[in-house]
Amino acid sequence: DGYTAESDAAILLQGLDIPDELHSRKMGELQGGQKVRVLLAQALFGHPQALLLDEPTNHLDLDSIHWLQGFLNVYDGVVIAISHDRHFLNSICTHIADIDYQTIITYTGSYDDMVVAKTQVRSQIESQNAQREKKISQLNEFIARFAAGTRSSQVQSRRKEVERLQVTELAKSNIQRPFIKFEQKRPSGKHILEVEHLGKAYGDNQVIRNFTASVTRGERIALMGRNGAGKTTLLNALLANSPTTPNAELRKTSGYDGPFVDSGKVIWGHEASIGYFAQDHRSLIEAGTTAIEWLHQWDEAAVTEELRGILGQMLFQREEATKSTSVLSGGEAARLLFCKLMLQKPNVLVLDEPTNHLDLESINALNISLQRYQGTVFLVTHDHDLIDEVATRIWHFESDHKITDFKGTYEDYQAALVTV
Ligand SMILES: Nc1ncnc2c1ncn2[C@@H]1O[C@H](COP(=O)(O)OP(=O)(O)OP(=O)(O)O)[C@@H](O)[C@H]1O
Ligand SMILES: [Mg+2]
Repeated sequence: DGYTAESDAAILLQGLDIPDELHSRKMGELQGGQKVRVLLAQALFGHPQALLLDEPTNHLDLDSIHWLQGFLNVYDGVVIAISHDRHFLNSICTHIADIDYQTIITYTGSYDDMVVAKTQVRSQIESQNAQREKKISQLNEFIARFAAGTRSSQVQSRRKEVERLQVTELAKSNIQRPFIKFEQKRPSGKHILEVEHLGKAYGDNQVIRNFTASVTRGERIALMGRNGAGKTTLLNALLANSPTTPNAELRKTSGYDGPFVDSGKVIWGHEASIGYFAQDHRSLIEAGTTAIEWLHQWDEAAVTEELRGILGQMLFQREEATKSTSVLSGGEAARLLFCKLMLQKPNVLVLDEPTNHLDLESINALNISLQRYQGTVFLVTHDHDLIDEVATRIWHFESDHKITDFKGTYEDYQAALVTV
């Protein structure tokens, strides 16, 4: 429809929070998150009857994810989506196709419904497997007993049957769950962090303006806000003054050689030891070594069994432990970073978008481990469930560089926003 095409496109772009002044920009000039939104607008343009979405939430902030959920819920075509975001799946799906046991089973309902139904299917498959194994062992017993005897034709036919049963390999679940457990070598003092009138700008771009906050041991703070709001910049400012994060490490992961703090103060409390998962953590894992060697450098005293144990928990089994660091996938690199944190046992965790390369099982494992962790947590994520279930305090980066500091859960925060 040539008459309304331009205004339709503008409505879509606005809905996806692409401001007017960007509408005529080249794609190459857009930020990652904005680019994803434009691609989404392109897919939505012209009212297609079906949408195929491969990880659509990956580079979106929470507001945009909520927008997309609302959009898909009123969209009347067919949607086929791949996603690791449990909350997103639960809010948009009417069916889940689970790829496991070397087949695809479609369940009616949302993700959580699927988990319940699958547990039942799994016990069915497992009892079938058990019956088959029993049958095989009975046949083998017969063969062993009569192999040398006169019943050679019967033995022969049973041998064939065993072969047949064994060829149709027992269907196994290929979903593996990592086991993430964060411990503290020793707890920190009660007053873990004071931030006073912190300011940081890049040239004219004043990203952090006069931010003051006081953090107590055991608080779990979610940093929320749109792409480019300044979340990573704030974390860098905090870490640059930390007693345990070498500046060289920070330079590597941030790729920035200017000052991390322009004005104000960051004071870490007594015995604070900080574990850091950088948004761009890949640069920390140099090529040319192996997973286990890389891990070893973070605790020279650790013995091989301990390193292998931790790697195993994060699904680097046996020979995987000696995998070359130059071939690690995004997900593997993220899991290796978690190994580092599990080995270091810090009493503060600073995690900048740790879920980006994780699958749903791993995100659930991370969720549980953070809920159980006794230390203090600073967490940047766009995963709704993770914020909802982990955070005890919210730092919301709003427009005009204001950071709202809310002492309560995300649910309380949303409720407070509605009543204001
Ligand atoms: N090295 C740099 N030089 C100049 N400007 C920068 C630099 N790093 C970040 N910025 C700018 O500072 C602002 C905040 O960036 P920051 O990376 O802190 O945002 P963020 O909230 O972490 O975003 P995202 O959700 O995309 O990770 C952005 O406008 C960004 O363009
Ligand atoms: Mg960031």
